[in-house]
Amino acid sequence: EMPTHKFKNGDEMPLLGLGTWKSEPDEVKTAVKEAIKLGYRHIDCAAIYGNEKEVGEALAESFNEGIVKREDMWITSKVWNDSHEQVSTALKKTLADLQLDYVDLYLIHWPISLKNGVSFPQDKHDMFHFDGERTWKAMESTVDMGLARHIGVSNFSTHKLGRILANYRIKPEVNQVERHPYLQQQHLVQFCRMNGILVTNYSSLGSGDRPAAFKPEGEPVLLEDATVKEVAAAVGATPAGVLLKWGIQQGSAVIPKSVNPERLKQNLEVPETVHLDDAAMEKLNAMDIHRRYVDGAFWALAGSAYTVETLWDEVG
Ligand code: A2P
Repeated sequence: EMPTHKFKNGDEMPLLGLGTWKSEPDEVKTAVKEAIKLGYRHIDCAAIYGNEKEVGEALAESFNEGIVKREDMWITSKVWNDSHEQVSTALKKTLADLQLDYVDLYLIHWPISLKNGVSFPQDKHDMFHFDGERTWKAMESTVDMGLARHIGVSNFSTHKLGRILANYRIKPEVNQVERHPYLQQQHLVQFCRMNGILVTNYSSLGSGDRPAAFKPEGEPVLLEDATVKEVAAAVGATPAGVLLKWGIQQGSAVIPKSVNPERLKQNLEVPETVHLDDAAMEKLNAMDIHRRYVDGAFWALAGSAYTVETLWDEVG
């Protein structure tokens, strides 16, 4: 039985989904088809991943072949930073690529605004002040238009969430953030819980396959961490199983990316096969070293309005 998060309107999101960031277009279609055959019912996408067309082909074929029905899938996507002024246009493009009429969940990918057409900024002129309240209004209208069933945010601090929570028509129901034993974000999680916002953890496995440009040499490798390995041995699971269950057991959703059939299967089976007792959780909870794999430094261009500190709103 797959654990789910139940939203206020009764919709349920499976707590384990398939991540598609870093999945090459030529491999993602096979991976998504395979995942759905295995029983995945939640796929996490984004326009910037550059592979929504291939994900859409996998979905269309799976529906046509009768493997799953649209209403039994949970599909998330995210508006890229260059489209905060044209959110519904961006969502319509995503829906065309995914071959869907609606997404189950649409997120603001980052609290960062870029000039339309810019994927990644070259300098400060590509960047704008992010107006969260204004972008949120555009997100709300995607629900009014029937293009998104639920809306939320990603990479938001408590401060930025608080501003939306102070004045919204349709509530943000999810905050997707980096979270794993090295970066536990308990304050943020607590804040979200108190406000009825589901936290989805990204980089649960440490995103070891992210671009070399963002990967400092000698960084700590989550999947090879001695404590994670020790817990894995103690509970008879793999390190990946331990890391995924760590999130699920706390009520968070996890979206591990894989394009490998064995690992897809292993990850899907985690809710049922991995059991972390109190001793195991205690060991994992003692691992917090505040280590971000996706540190956001690529937004902190000289002269722009963004710094790593104002991005995460962390002090000290
Ligand atoms: P692959 O796609 O070859 O399976 P994250 O979700 O944190 O970004 O991590 C994704 C990375 O973790 C990918 O390199 C993926 O490789 C790898 N991965 C996914 N599942 C497992 C697993 N069960 N064991 C080990 N590595 C995994």
